[in-house]
Amino acid sequence: MAKYQLFGEELLIWRKKQLSKGGRKVDFDWLLDLGGGLSWVTLQKLLIDPNKSLLLSESLEALEGIWMRHLEDKTPLQYLIGRCPWRDFDLAVNASVMIPRQETELLVDLALKRVGNSSEGIWVDLGTGSGALAVALAQSLYDWEGHAVDLSKDALSLAKHNLEHLAPDFQTKLHLGSWWEPLQPLWGFFSLALANPPYIPTSVINELDPVVKDHEPRLALCGGSDGLMQIRKILAGSFKALAPGGWLIMEHHHDQSDDVLKLMSQFGLVNVSFEKDLQGIKRFAIGQRRQDLNSN
Ligand SMILES: C[S@@+](CC[C@H](N)C(=O)[O-])C[C@H]1O[C@@H](n2cnc3c(N)ncnc32)[C@H](O)[C@@H]1O
Repeated sequence: MAKYQLFGEELLIWRKKQLSKGGRKVDFDWLLDLGGGLSWVTLQKLLIDPNKSLLLSESLEALEGIWMRHLEDKTPLQYLIGRCPWRDFDLAVNASVMIPRQETELLVDLALKRVGNSSEGIWVDLGTGSGALAVALAQSLYDWEGHAVDLSKDALSLAKHNLEHLAPDFQTKLHLGSWWEPLQPLWGFFSLALANPPYIPTSVINELDPVVKDHEPRLALCGGSDGLMQIRKILAGSFKALAPGGWLIMEHHHDQSDDVLKLMSQFGLVNVSFEKDLQGIKRFAIGQRRQDLNSN
């Protein structure tokens, strides 16, 4: 990797100039870190003592080009850099997938809390996008069988790339199609299903920040008029698709908890409960298929 040497003072003058053009300091420093290889800690040290030299992995011109593009059309920096750190790995991202969010990291912990002791089973990541959840499961549940589904062909090929690079020893099977449909031969066998489906009501999409609404795929965001359209579809198929005792864990919008829990019960799941995200918002719905095989 090419290295670009410069003095701390030079970098700080250049940083000030870039920030005077607009944008948020936190985003710019994130660009310096991920795009330029200058960690936040090193930057803080330079702010205290600028009389040091440093190495960047990108030229100032290249970083400035990315920053200008971000300011001009609000393209997310993750798309421009092509990477997004998530949990303890670095995912490749592009405009065909939603940028994985920090709150979604908790879905993995909630899942491992429920199935972590089971030595084997079959899991599925419904609506895999970049493959974030699938990679995390593949890295944790070694003896399981893993599947990932998406309706977007481009998303699936990026998920494939991420799985091959980040969980090379685990064979996750990828399926193109809608929710449970492409998995029909395995219905009744899934011990664990994770989903972060599109759940934003159509009317709310246009109120979102341009960084989101103008760049992230509608297919990943839009949950129909009440935001619950895709959630209903997933729940409608979950009873048949889950194994007896199998878990479904879903993320949803900040105000959908009561509705999603009610739907889970209506569609026959038991032990229905919610979990909160790091901000204390009811963000995840959890349900289980009954253990009793004859109970449908
Ligand atoms: C909110 S994104 C979540 C992506 C990823 N799981 C994450 O958490 O970052 C929703 C994903 O569902 C996919 N999707 C939308 N409708 C679908 C459908 N009917 N069947 C399968 N996947 C679908 C989208 O393409 C998108 O990748």
